[in-house]
Amino acid sequence: MNAGIIGIGKYVPEKVVTNEDLEKILDTSDEWIRTRTGIEARRIAADNENTSDMAYKAALAAIESAGITAEQIGLILVATVTPDQAFPTVACQIQEALGAKNAAAMDISAACAGFMYGLITAKQFVESGSYDYVLVVGVEKLSKIIDWQDRNTAVLFGDGASAAIVSKVSEGRGILSFELGADGTGGKYLCLDERKAIAMNGREVFKFAVRQMGESAMNVVEKAGYNKEDVDYLIPHQANIRIMEAARERLGLPEEKMSKTIHKYGNTSAASIGISLVDDLEDGKIKDGDLIVLVGFGGGLTWGAVTLRW
Ligand code: ACO
Repeated sequence: MNAGIIGIGKYVPEKVVTNEDLEKILDTSDEWIRTRTGIEARRIAADNENTSDMAYKAALAAIESAGITAEQIGLILVATVTPDQAFPTVACQIQEALGAKNAAAMDISAACAGFMYGLITAKQFVESGSYDYVLVVGVEKLSKIIDWQDRNTAVLFGDGASAAIVSKVSEGRGILSFELGADGTGGKYLCLDERKAIAMNGREVFKFAVRQMGESAMNVVEKAGYNKEDVDYLIPHQANIRIMEAARERLGLPEEKMSKTIHKYGNTSAASIGISLVDDLEDGKIKDGDLIVLVGFGGGLTWGAVTLRW
């Protein structure tokens, strides 16, 4: 028996901030941002719109799409590095808001790889028979930890949320293989500095990400007993189009077989892979029975990947 995703949802804030908008407040250009990152716009949450509000909306959509009730959920895992506060956790806040009174709840901190850490943790609890339904949320309000004067980082990120319900699926479907990893020696390359703002060595993160995304994607395909030729679709963490392209090339996939939502949303960290999944399903890019690879990396450094039969 495999665990798989039986429902999915997303929420992005209404406010769109384009590259042209950033040109007005930073020494940057639409051309630089587009060619270096693939980003054209991002969503930014309102001041009074919290991480927990976005998480709740995405969770509600996932619950509806799974056709279950909140009371059936046994565990809530919220991947975020921008919780409303250290505690109570976002997981506990949305447990109350959803009325998921039978669920245990905790946050997971693995930066942009958070959704993968959540999904893979959920898989263990479902396959061990501990819980029938696990709610996984990836959510970030990165706008509150961005130094809006720092052009090196301010242009890259956006806010948003995605959620998935993980449960038993029929044989041969769901999550077929996974890989998780971490390298604390690279923690210094991407962190919150003393101002509590994102600080990044872009070059080092880029090098790590290009290598790790390709390697992890290949590893999970092999672990599932497949070749790269069998892969129908790739959803990489939406951090930078050039990093994503490197992973796609490693799998030898044509352009149309890779998810690309970064131009609309920027890097939404833990939310990005789930947001892509929702949009790609809506756009008909993923078909029933497709073999999909999800792969993410993030600050920590952390990474995670799965092969999934949809
Ligand atoms: N607009 C204009 N110029 C800029 C901007 C900007 N927004 N940002 C940097 N520059 C300048 C730099 O100052 C530099 O100028 P200099 O040569 O005079 O010093 C020049 O552009 C080139 O900078 P590079 O660092 O060489 O640019 P690069 O091609 O490496 O692209 C980037 C930078 C986009 C940040 C890239 O390194 C990258 O994507 N790295 C990975 C970042 C990432 O994915 N971070 C998120 C990780 S996920 C997570 O866990 C949060």
